[in-house]
Amino acid sequence: MKADFPALRQKMNGRSLAYLDTAASAQKPQAVIDAVTRAYTDHYANIHRGLYEFSQKTTADFEAARKRIARFMGVSNENEIVFTRNATESINLVAQSWGRTNLKAGDEILLTEMEHHANIVPWQLLRDQTGVVLKIAPIFDDGALDLESYKNLLGPRTRLVAVTHVSNALGIINPVKKIAAAAKNFNSGIKVLVDGSQAVVHMPVNVPETGCDFYAFTGHKLYGPTGVGVLWGRAELLNAMPPYQGGGDMIERVMFEKTTYKDAPARFEAGTPAIAEAIGLGAAVDYLDKAGMKSVAARENALLDYAMKELDKIDGLRFYGTAKAKAGIVSFTAGWGHPSDIGMILDQCGVAVRTGHHCCMPLMQRFGIDGTIRASFGLYTEESDIDALAEGLKKAKSMLS
Ligand SMILES: Cc1ncc(COP(=O)(O)O)c(C=O)c1O
Repeated sequence: MKADFPALRQKMNGRSLAYLDTAASAQKPQAVIDAVTRAYTDHYANIHRGLYEFSQKTTADFEAARKRIARFMGVSNENEIVFTRNATESINLVAQSWGRTNLKAGDEILLTEMEHHANIVPWQLLRDQTGVVLKIAPIFDDGALDLESYKNLLGPRTRLVAVTHVSNALGIINPVKKIAAAAKNFNSGIKVLVDGSQAVVHMPVNVPETGCDFYAFTGHKLYGPTGVGVLWGRAELLNAMPPYQGGGDMIERVMFEKTTYKDAPARFEAGTPAIAEAIGLGAAVDYLDKAGMKSVAARENALLDYAMKELDKIDGLRFYGTAKAKAGIVSFTAGWGHPSDIGMILDQCGVAVRTGHHCCMPLMQRFGIDGTIRASFGLYTEESDIDALAEGLKKAKSMLS
């Protein structure tokens, strides 16, 4: 697998690069790079509008990518796949379009303590605009969501549950099916949004089977290009929502007095989209389909076990997110050094990890820390990368303690 990722052939500070920051952004396989290059070299043109061959062919490639992404997510109607800029924009779209239309002061949105800022701040903006109330479901010390407390927070004013599928900071996998079922059993009108940014990367996900109403993810973590993300929503729901942005390509008819809009996905894709990037994301899901998400998950689970075994041998580490249901993300602090000092020493050893709050400040507050060191795995991660991490940590320990 590693051989498919040209950036990983390089040395870093004289050593093979151990890239352990896939949760922040994944490296790109040659197949994705080639697909983006071909989008510009074979027959590049703007889409949906041109009658000439280049435009028709590029439109066909763009729409074929949408179909492939739908299939990858277990979605049968590709019109339910809205291309956005990233997961952040997908969630803002729901907040501003569905939220502003359907929520009023006093209505409640239920989040969890482990959300990424992308699934907190859009709801705070909505709170400032409408007076909705944010409720926060707690987690246990091992990082698992406290399901009973979550259920107890569902109330007569709950309108939306917005939860991450996999925590980017802890690797914890949330039981989204149970979370969605509990919300719907309580009140079938409650909508459930799942932030799948870290889930689709690590394991097979059949999105409609989760029972959620909206599912968001970002392309660049899924081995695709930057600048493209996805929002899935059921067609009836999307078509009942007003546009998020206005402009070209999303309209049926524009008059100065009144404009009418196309159905989804076009109504949410105002302006020229990230054409080559969406085509690249289509190539990324093809690549993952070939790899098989079941075997990706199995491989990452084995790596996780190996990492925990090796890192356990190093004194003074404290792990966060130790519950059983985990994806390939390891988060820890060291009693003998600050995460950023350790991160810099690891860089000198050719090991790329992320240190800090991982855009989860409330989660860090929950644990009473500023941040952690996070090693996250991808398709290309090998045991030798984990060995390099363990060696680097031993070196950091000898330098800092
Ligand atoms: C769980 C989760 N949600 C949302 C995001 C936001 O992704 P993006 O910055 O690509 O919108 C991230 C990125 O780290 C994430 O890990």
